[in-house]
Amino acid sequence: MNQSPTAIPNPPLTIQPPAWVRQRQLIDWVQRVAALTKPDQVVWCDGSQEEYDRLCAQMVAAGTLQPLNPAKRPNSYLAWSDPSDVARVEDRTFICSPRREDAGPTNHWVEPAEMRLTLDGLFDGAMRGRTMYVVPFSMGPLGSPIAHIGVELSDSPYVVTNMRIMTRMGRQVYDVLGTDGPFVPCVHSVGAPLAAGQADVAWPCNDTKYIVHFPETREIWSYGSGYGGNALLGKKCFALRIASTMGRDQGWLAEHMLILGVTSPQGRKYHVAAAFPSACGKTNFAMLIPPQALGGWSVSTIGDDIAWIKPGKDGRLYAINPEAGYFGVAPGTSEKTNFNAMATLKENVIFTNVALTEDGDVWWEGMTDTPPEHLTDWQRQPWTPAIARETGRKAAHPNARFTAPAEQCPSIDADWENPAGVPIDAFIFGGRRSTTVPLVTEARNWTEGVYMAATMGSETTAAAAGQQGVVRRDPFAMLPFCGYNMSDYFNHWLKTGEQLAQQQATLPKIFCVNWFRKNAEGKFVWPGFGENMRVLAWMVGRIEGQAAATEHAFGLSPRYDDIDWRGLDFSEAQFAQVMSSSADAWRAELALHAELFTRLQQGLPAALTQTKAAFEARLA
Ligand code: GTP
Ligand code: SPV
Ligand code: MN
Repeated sequence: MNQSPTAIPNPPLTIQPPAWVRQRQLIDWVQRVAALTKPDQVVWCDGSQEEYDRLCAQMVAAGTLQPLNPAKRPNSYLAWSDPSDVARVEDRTFICSPRREDAGPTNHWVEPAEMRLTLDGLFDGAMRGRTMYVVPFSMGPLGSPIAHIGVELSDSPYVVTNMRIMTRMGRQVYDVLGTDGPFVPCVHSVGAPLAAGQADVAWPCNDTKYIVHFPETREIWSYGSGYGGNALLGKKCFALRIASTMGRDQGWLAEHMLILGVTSPQGRKYHVAAAFPSACGKTNFAMLIPPQALGGWSVSTIGDDIAWIKPGKDGRLYAINPEAGYFGVAPGTSEKTNFNAMATLKENVIFTNVALTEDGDVWWEGMTDTPPEHLTDWQRQPWTPAIARETGRKAAHPNARFTAPAEQCPSIDADWENPAGVPIDAFIFGGRRSTTVPLVTEARNWTEGVYMAATMGSETTAAAAGQQGVVRRDPFAMLPFCGYNMSDYFNHWLKTGEQLAQQQATLPKIFCVNWFRKNAEGKFVWPGFGENMRVLAWMVGRIEGQAAATEHAFGLSPRYDDIDWRGLDFSEAQFAQVMSSSADAWRAELALHAELFTRLQQGLPAALTQTKAAFEARLA
């Protein structure tokens, strides 16, 4: 994609750390990476507004960002990526643990020494003609005992500005690090060095991509992409893949989960963490607005994508959101589906791959019922509803996203930055399934809950490059994010439950949901979004021991009358459609569980195969 630069003699690079950087190892590491990648200069980011504004202005000049109309969307920008760089690249994501078994059959593995050789080649001179930014960040509130620090070296100013929204980024991090504090080193290059005089492109990247994790040394190296989870290394690479291995070693959990608070009309507050795969409704559920007809429920947002969960001394599990912003799916987001997200997006936002309106604002499919008459689409082409009808071209890429500060969310929970976290009363797992999986099922116990989560299937979405709409197993919504052997991960969950039980604690209940059942015409049967409150209210009823349920082969489910239908026209027949599941469909589903278990055979906990046998016996 990019010409290889001619060898021009570089003046010896001085990295010149500012006085506020005192961590010697960090300085040495920056020096080594600069010597390898050979940027024109090194900039130590301080996280200030001035720095953010300067980088944005620089990207506007370079054509990477377009400022939006300040009267419509103050202090906000739009980026259009290269059409080849629009989503996470799971095929190019590697877990380089010392032994192949440690990465397990669900991860791509390369022997660490071999991968280091490859990376040395790729990164040699990769930043020529560019600036290397040193981006210090904290995942979790600064200085909190559960937070962890990372430093990302990146040649992308787009990454720097996004990291400032998504994490606690800046000079304060060095105060926490002191002279010898630990940090996770993250190296990122778009892989597009510039020769002297070579003009840059708006979105530099490389067709060759590597997203690499070394769990043993807790290091991340990312090459060739500037997009989302490939490049914002605090998110999936650190807070899930590396953190999941830290959690395994230290007795906690790093999960692909939203965290919400739910307060009943009686004023009792509970906390729920929910794992849905990418683009399957976490941001929406985290910001849910309960239907008024249900009378006095409220939902508050702690996190929308990642949860770090640690056992407390009282035997309960406490969760924090390690992030400080939302990198959310734009298409489908509207005042009707997610009012709180729309309010969060009023200002200070970076939009990526949405469409531009004629008056300098943004639009995406689903934002309004009637599309604007004329737009510039994410591929810089003129777009009209007629063109869309003829060509099927989307105005926004299906994985178009917004980057917005969490504190701007109207439903943000007062405790969202509480370093102690919030106590979890229930876990919810849910996939995108047109068929088979009912609206809601409660596990009878922890082991059955772990089984349901482990065997979860979901139709693939635009969040990852590759085929869409095909059902795959996505255990715990962690298939692309678990940094170690999936069977060991199941075992870690089972052990966590056992340990809590030994402390005589009440374990969180575990539920399985599916908001995405379709009818014969291919239309969603369940209204979803705010109406999901009805299911959440039933769950709270179950936690309180108030709501009724009926038992079946796979667990406990509500009958029609167990759900509060006030204010919604949803018939018993429709309910049957979202709950129904034939024995044949379940047998086919269990065959898919069997396939998964065969694949994960090595180290698969016996409790899970026993649970499967028990389900089969009940079904027979
Ligand atoms: P990631 O950021 O990729 O992890 O996604 P997410 O899990 O946060 O998904 P998000 O809430 O952004 O939703 C993804 C898409 O699903 C959006 O287009 C939503 O409008 C849509 N969606 C969310 N909740 C529901 C629901 O209850 N029903 C239906 N039909 N669609 C939903
Ligand atoms: C996901 O794919 O689950 C996301 C978006 O949340 S990304 O940060 O790109 O991974
Ligand atoms: Mn996600």
